[in-house]
Formats: sequence, C-alpha cells, structure tokens
Amino acid sequence: MSIALQRCINPGCAAEYDVLQTLPKCPKCGNLLDVDYDWDRMRLPDRADRLGRLAAWPSGGPGSVSGVWRFGDLLPFAPADKRVSIGEGRTQLRPSPRTASYVGVGSDCLRLQYEGLNPSGSFKDNGMAGAFTHANLVGARVAACASTGNTSASLAAFASASGLMRAIIFIGDGKIAYGKLSQALDYGAATLLVKGDFDDAMARVQEVCAEEGIYLVNSVNPFRLEGQKTTMYRVLEGLDWRLPDWIVCPGGNLGNSSAFGKALYELYDHGLIAKLPRLAVVNSAGAPTLSRLVNQKGLKWNGGRVDDAVISSYYAGLDARGEKARTLASAIEINRPVNLKKCLRALERANGVVLEATDQEILDAKAWIARDGLGCEPASAASVAGAKILVERGVIDKDSLVIAILTGHQLKDPHATVAYHSYAEDKLRADYGEFGVASSRFANRPMPVANSLGDIIDAIRGIS
Ligand code: F0G
Repeated sequence: MSIALQRCINPGCAAEYDVLQTLPKCPKCGNLLDVDYDWDRMRLPDRADRLGRLAAWPSGGPGSVSGVWRFGDLLPFAPADKRVSIGEGRTQLRPSPRTASYVGVGSDCLRLQYEGLNPSGSFKDNGMAGAFTHANLVGARVAACASTGNTSASLAAFASASGLMRAIIFIGDGKIAYGKLSQALDYGAATLLVKGDFDDAMARVQEVCAEEGIYLVNSVNPFRLEGQKTTMYRVLEGLDWRLPDWIVCPGGNLGNSSAFGKALYELYDHGLIAKLPRLAVVNSAGAPTLSRLVNQKGLKWNGGRVDDAVISSYYAGLDARGEKARTLASAIEINRPVNLKKCLRALERANGVVLEATDQEILDAKAWIARDGLGCEPASAASVAGAKILVERGVIDKDSLVIAILTGHQLKDPHATVAYHSYAEDKLRADYGEFGVASSRFANRPMPVANSLGDIIDAIRGIS
C-alpha cells in the first residue's frame, strides 16, 4: 500500500484514488482532489525545527538544491528517483523595516517571503516541481496549462530543463506581461494565444486535456499544491520555527492560499506546530470573486457543505453583465478561481479573512517594497497593500508578526513600474485611469539632462 493517496475534498463523497491516477477532478462528484498520506507511516521528527534538515540528500541529488524536495518527507507521493527539480525554492524571508512603517506595524513585525528568487522568477516553480514529478511518475509526455504568465513560464522552464515533456500553454491573447511571454517563447513551449481572457483559456485547456489525454499542470492538479506547501515550511524555518500571527498573500486562482492552509494545518494536526497563523487573501479590486462571495454573499466552507448555488448564481451574474476581470495586477486577473473551495477550507481552518486592494494601493505598496531592496511584480504587492488595509481596520495588531508573500519578480512585469515612476500624473491618468490609478506619490522620478558636464553636475547637486 502506497503511503500517499488522492481523496475528494467533499466530505460527503471522500472517494479515494491511487496516486498513479491522473484526475483533474473527482470522477464521482466533480469536486477537487487532495493528496493525503498515511501520517503514521511518515518519517517525521517530533519537533518542527528538525524538518527540512532531515531530508538531507546525498550531494548532487535534487534535494541538495531544491527548497521543495528538502522537505520531501512532508510530501512523500513519489520515490526519490522520480523527483524533478530545476533548483526551485531557494528563496528567502527578508526583513523589511521601511515597508513595515508603510504598513503600520513595528519595524521588525513585517517579513517578506521573496519567491521571485525562484529559477523562473515566481513561486510557481515550487508547485511545478510537484506536478512535474507526478507527471514523470505517470509517464506523461505532454503537459499543458492556462496561464496569466507565471505558470506557463514555469512549465516551459521545467519542460526544457528536464527534457521529459513537451509544454503547451494557453494564454488569453494580450493578457500576459512581456517578461513572462518572453520566457515561454524562449524555453520553446508551444504557445497558444487564445482569443479571450484567462478564465476562457482555463476552461479550454481543461477540455483539451480531457479530450487529448494531455497532462494538466494548473493548480486543479493537487500535486502542484503539494509543492507549494513548502513556501510555508521555508517561512517557518526563516523564523527559526517561531510562529507568525498572519500570513498574507495575493489571491488569483487560489492555489497558493489553499496550499498554505494545507501546509499549516497538516503541521498543526500532526503536532508539529502549536497554533495556526491566520490567513489573509487579497484580491485585486478588479478581480474580486473571492472577496465578493465571502464578504457579500456569506459563502463559507461550512465543514465541506459549500453552497454551490451561491457560486453559480454569482457566475451567472458576471455572464449576464458581461463582467470580466480587469486589473493592472495581470497575474491575478481571474474571476473564476479554480481552487475556490480549497481556499474556503483554508480560510475556515486558519480563521482567515479576504479583502480587496485597488490597483492604486497595489502600485503604492510596490514602491515601498522596493525601498527595502525587493523587486516584485504588481500582483505580489497586493499582499502588502492588503496588510496595510488590515492594520488600518484594526484587524491586524501593530505588534503582530506578519508575513507577506512576494510571489513574482519585478522584471516579470516592469511596464506599470516604469509608468508609475516616470509618467507625469496626467499621462498616468490617461493610460491607467481605467484601472483607477491617478497618482504616483512614492515615485522615484528619472531626471532628463542635457549631455553636458555642467547640467549633469547641477542635477546631481540638486539631489537631496
Ligand atoms: N502572484 C503571482 C505573481 C501570480 O502569478 C499568481 C498566479 C498569483 C499571485 C495568484 O496565485 O493563483 O495561487 O492564487 N498566477 C497564475 C498564472 C494564475 O497563470 O501564472 P494563486
């Protein structure tokens, strides 16, 4: 009997499947699947601070460079020789005193988990190590995803680096930042620009994969989320296994928040941590499905009895009004998050909250993050923008220990950053007014100067 299995998340169904099956959903009831383990048979220490070190690999093995497989004992669904790695997860928990002052907490109370350091520049590499390993386990030869750009960059990088699979990616035409598109093209992924947005591309890729027997690596794939759990282990390791009060992350397709919740309550349920940090998921105000469903419609996990009628009537309303997600934080421009129910479960377990940040708040927060020497893309800054709002509302205390996740690297999507810092406000309004961006009060303005020694020296002397 394998130590791992797949199980339907709907407690009323709870059907179980072998890990060697490739199932995008529960064949019996259509809900998402989890990966679960026979925890009694797992090789776990009795203290959390020994995690990660236990899994020391012989030098040269993928665990020696992988911040995912270093914690392989907490996701033991594949034998060691099937694990795939491109050196993902070597990321850092960084102090951020300036951003902390902006957020309104003590200077040592905010840490930023910088997932932009992953090989393809975003947190997606954590999960892709999991999904690729499962694809390798089941002998897949072609893998596909829909993407706002980071999942596709990661899939393309894993496919070309490992040589194990061909990658096919589905992008909403015009809905991807150039940095991300350049990665997919350069790594040689077959790139389909689907007329539509991410939600359309996501619907099509699921149909195509079912029809053509192609391996789907979007985060409906539960093995993706196993890899993404490791971000939490690295956060706790970065704190010397002190527990934070809050984890704050952006919400798009809701894979990260679901995986973070699972990582934490598994540690808690198996006695490795003493309390569960609270979870805050931040939607862009231009893609607010989770926030609207939770805060306005009262949708809850409710012990697994999610009210499906509330979700379908919300989506029917979007269709009737022709309402599409629209935000400068293009990575989270998603209105139909596939992991909605898993995220609701994580929120219930972790006493979580959901909120919206405007694109203006996101860009302002991003400028402060950069003052701490960390460059992130707009979607990532939603976490810091959200933390600030929660402090203002008195939900997060000023002396709480808060971890905000920076999901992707600055160079992924530099367009809005350059506009924020360099455009005059009337041009900013003209170009970005539709996203509600009207000012750039934290801009670091470039200085045009004549090609003359005197002018350049005058400009430099004018710097305060
Ligand atoms: N931040 C970045 C930089 C992302 O690329 C994404 C998702 C998110 C946050 C949201 O994370 O989906 O786990 O809630 N990007 C996906 C993609 C959708 O296709 O790259 P989530």
